[in-house]
Amino acid sequence: MVIKPFDKKIWLATPTMHSEERLFVDEAFDTNWVSTLGENINQLEQAICDKVGCHYSLALSSGTTSLHLAVKLAGVKPGDKVFCMDMTFIATVNPVVYEAAEPVFIDSETETWNMDPKALERAFEIYGDAKAVIVTNLYGVPAKLDEIKAICKRHNAVLIEDAAESLGATFEGVQTGNYGDYGVISFNGNKIITCSSGGMLLSNDKNAIDLARKMSTQAKEDAPWYQHEIVGYNYRLSNVLAGIGRGQLLHLDEHVKAKKAIYERYKEGLKNLPLKMNPYDEKRMEPNYWLSCIIIDKEAMCKQIRQEKEFTYISEKGKSCPEEIREKLASYNVESRPIWKPMHMQPVFKNCGVVQADNFCVCEDIFNRGLCLPSDIKMTEQEQDVVIEIIKSCF
Ligand SMILES: Cc1ncc(COP(=O)(O)O)c(C=O)c1O
Repeated sequence: MVIKPFDKKIWLATPTMHSEERLFVDEAFDTNWVSTLGENINQLEQAICDKVGCHYSLALSSGTTSLHLAVKLAGVKPGDKVFCMDMTFIATVNPVVYEAAEPVFIDSETETWNMDPKALERAFEIYGDAKAVIVTNLYGVPAKLDEIKAICKRHNAVLIEDAAESLGATFEGVQTGNYGDYGVISFNGNKIITCSSGGMLLSNDKNAIDLARKMSTQAKEDAPWYQHEIVGYNYRLSNVLAGIGRGQLLHLDEHVKAKKAIYERYKEGLKNLPLKMNPYDEKRMEPNYWLSCIIIDKEAMCKQIRQEKEFTYISEKGKSCPEEIREKLASYNVESRPIWKPMHMQPVFKNCGVVQADNFCVCEDIFNRGLCLPSDIKMTEQEQDVVIEIIKSCF
């Protein structure tokens, strides 16, 4: 196959829009409910509760602001420890710092790439206690949520499930976002469905969601004038954007199906190379396959050096590395992305604690050998086959 660079860029994950979004947005304009109240918000909150199976939800301006309110609801105070996943997007951790609390980073396991229950248990042994645990379902693959939940219960820690990337994924038949005391989803543009930007806080605790609703609108008291007893925020989602989400949600299952087909096609097309797809436990979980990722076998890694912002590698026949593949794909106008760089490697968090199950850092190893592949559901099978050929040519 002769491969030429694509005229049109192949993206990692971009919004896939349909027709209903526009109808709901128009409805907001037609009824003049274009601010942070309205039917789109009400319907989106209800529809997400119905989908996820939680009792209450609150539409907010982003996944990050939803996480921030979850951290506040968990009662996190300055100086408290919060156990977070080491390998995640920084938005999982920043809200902990907004509250002047102390994040401690927990390593991943190899079976789902998510928080290692053994490392979490060890963290409780080392630190005694933690106010909260924030577990992420990375790339749409559920963590070992039952084990994590049991550990939190034993140690009296509030569990926040960062399901920003995993809407539609299930663990033992239960939708993610519904395992913790609080769940968070993101409607950012690159997610499985989008509101252009936005997020949602989920819980089965009515009082908690009522309090979050109040905090998200400047914490106004029930009085004729502006009366405030606690500090609030301006975190609500716009009814215009909620209209986009409402239309998108009608297509969630279809998006998951298309993402799965992409994952399966990569798996088949790359099966003879010394690499594996991002793993999950087929018996217990069904991911939403948000991003398809690969991890190169240890023996097939060529030399790769990453500094803070620069990298180099030495090409070798039969071997490759994430930076070589990423650079090669980019030369054909294809986007790919390194795995989330672990938080303990980020200069901003250099003084935070890190806990691993033993002496080997799993997430650092995944970061070194892993890569996120283009997983945009508008990519055609033919385009994906070309991506596969480009990856093959790196070895
Ligand atoms: C794991 C994770 N947590 C939190 C967020 C934050 O969501 P948002 O971008 O909507 O603030 C994202 C995505 O952006 C994410 O991937």
